[in-house]
Amino acid sequence: MIKWYIIKATFLALLMVQMLTMVSLYLRHNNFFSTDTLTKNPSKVHILIVSSWRSGSSFLGQVFSQHPDVFYLMEPVWHLWMNMKRSNAKVLQMAARDLIRSVFQCDMSVYDAYLPEKPKASDLFMWHVSRALCSPPVCDLFERTQIIKEDDCKTLCKRSQFNKVAEACHTYSHIALKEVRLFDLKSIYPLVHDSSLNLKIIHLVRDPRAVFRSRHESSGILSIDTDIILNGYGKTDEEVEYKAMKEICNSYVNIYKDATNSSLNVFKNCYMLVRYEDLVRDPLEKVKEMYRFAQLDFPPNFEEWIYAITHGKDFGKNGMAFKTTSRNALNVSQAWRNSLSFQAVSKVQDNCKEAMSVFGYKPVKSDRVQKLMSMDLLLPMESNNGSLKT
Ligand SMILES: *[C@@H]1O[C@H](CO)[C@@H](O)[C@H](O)[C@H]1NC(C)=O
Ligand SMILES: *[C@@H]1O[C@H](CO)[C@@H](O)[C@H](O)[C@H]1NC(C)=O
Ligand SMILES: *[C@@H]1O[C@H](CO)[C@@H](O)[C@H](O)[C@H]1NC(C)=O
Repeated sequence: MIKWYIIKATFLALLMVQMLTMVSLYLRHNNFFSTDTLTKNPSKVHILIVSSWRSGSSFLGQVFSQHPDVFYLMEPVWHLWMNMKRSNAKVLQMAARDLIRSVFQCDMSVYDAYLPEKPKASDLFMWHVSRALCSPPVCDLFERTQIIKEDDCKTLCKRSQFNKVAEACHTYSHIALKEVRLFDLKSIYPLVHDSSLNLKIIHLVRDPRAVFRSRHESSGILSIDTDIILNGYGKTDEEVEYKAMKEICNSYVNIYKDATNSSLNVFKNCYMLVRYEDLVRDPLEKVKEMYRFAQLDFPPNFEEWIYAITHGKDFGKNGMAFKTTSRNALNVSQAWRNSLSFQAVSKVQDNCKEAMSVFGYKPVKSDRVQKLMSMDLLLPMESNNGSLKT
């Protein structure tokens, strides 16, 4: 009798344990312990700058990279894409997501598959635009609080060990990644719920006509990427650039729609939209706003630096593709109006109708208006009813 009782009790106890386990797995699976409820207490802030090619994102990247509290890497997904040249953007998106997550966690072993044996820090794509890779513990020749020119870093720091990259990453309170190879936000939902991450997404968009002009100047460099975006369209006729523009504009819109979709409600407190044009019209204010959003202080010497890099003062060289140019940014943002034909402009406008309307870029209907510089083609975003104020 007693024996029977013990067996019954044990059985009930086991059943209890199993039920509790299942309930907890269920809750976990459904993100009951998510963002603002229980477990979220990451010690760092994870900033993801999402943009597209030639949208001013190198410049924005610098604004974060040079901040002494930020560990910055430019376009980690480049390594994945360049190893998968025959693939397409959709197939690669989950691998891209997991790569981003690992880098945010300072797990740099995720690069192993893409780098040579015995890698150096300088094997990372555009490593020298990362101030963190140009200062201790990666490179001892500069100070962490210095604003470091990429060319100086490139010559002086190129022998640094790759294992220093992860070591450095762990010493920063903020990790910022800039990525142009994400086409919607659905693939990164899990990062928002990941309790080890405190994600802040900054989405940078730019007038499609200016993007078109800028891509035109660097189309050779972009051709592999363009091929992956267009899923092996293969031809190099002049339609390629318009097709690519269409994809870029769609991704601008899709990211924005995912972020502001009230029924999803995932990105409510972790998304900020920035138009490049607003950034160059009032760089200081916009940068301060972004820093507040990303929980960064505004360093005292930055006012002067930000003025310099947006007004063509000497803080870097001009011109070359992938260089953060320090030409007069406001002036450059309008350059398409004089250098593109009205025919090309019309075609871009047709391919980017929705993006133009969502982000407040006014289409031009004639060559005369295009060149009439007193006509402002930037509409205030508020009138487009987005939830833009952060
Ligand atoms: C918002 O998300 C839901 C669920 O994915 C989707 O059905 C709906 O179409 C989205 N709304 C917009 C405006 O994109
Ligand atoms: C850019 O600036 C120069 C002089 O600084 C001026 O002549 C030119 O018209 C400007 N271009 C645009 C597009 O504003
Ligand atoms: C903004 O949206 C609200 C409801 O969604 C609508 O009532 C209002 O008219 C819209 N405003 C503008 C300027 O489109």
